[in-house]
Amino acid sequence: MRRRGVMASAAVLLALAFWGVYPSQRGAGPPARFGFGRPATVDEMNAWDIAVRPDGKGLPPGRGTARDGVSLYASHCASCHGPTGREGPFDRLVGREPRQGFPFGRDPALTRTIGNYWPYATTLYDYLNRAMPLDRPGSLGPDQVYSLVAFLLWRNDIIADSAVMDARTLSRVVMPARDRFVVDDRRGGPELR
Ligand code: HEC
Repeated sequence: MRRRGVMASAAVLLALAFWGVYPSQRGAGPPARFGFGRPATVDEMNAWDIAVRPDGKGLPPGRGTARDGVSLYASHCASCHGPTGREGPFDRLVGREPRQGFPFGRDPALTRTIGNYWPYATTLYDYLNRAMPLDRPGSLGPDQVYSLVAFLLWRNDIIADSAVMDARTLSRVVMPARDRFVVDDRRGGPELR
């Protein structure tokens, strides 16, 4: 009984302490302002604005060929993706099998690569530019990224090793899996506001 009384007193004291420390929040929601931070500058927003869309919008100036990409791939990528892009230990990047059909939905064990699964070549630029190499993302310049994109497309038998990849030519590359996906044209997001 005595113990219960002590517990009750402690609870009352705690409630009073909270009431004293946070008087302004009594009954109110979160504050309208937290009083720290500042608006981002245009330069800061531009530095984050690196998205490249499937139609090629956002691709920067620059150019490269698969031949330029050979040594870049060997020094920056082969340790994780294998000397030819087929060995791993991480994701396989090269391979057109199975060339017939698109059985990935039925058999998740099949290996998805740039050559047999990616619907757009443009988003390969986006991905390499923002995420690779895994241990130093964002460290490659536009010419290096174009060269590596060209190299991977060439290794997947999609372009010739002499083909120059830039904002215009990359947007025109048609990937083998281009028509294997449905366009998500659902509405109901921010465009309605
Ligand atoms: C330190 C290891 C490492 C290095 C170096 C590295 N990668 Fe990767 N890469 C990965 C891992 C791990 C993934 C899977 C990431 C995930 O699924 O989130 C990946 C994923 C990828 C993918 C996506 C594969 C797919 O089909 O989904 C591409 C393309 C790729 N890397 C290209 C490159 C290129 C080009 C380079 C060199 C500039 C590079 N990577 C360097 C580890 C690495």
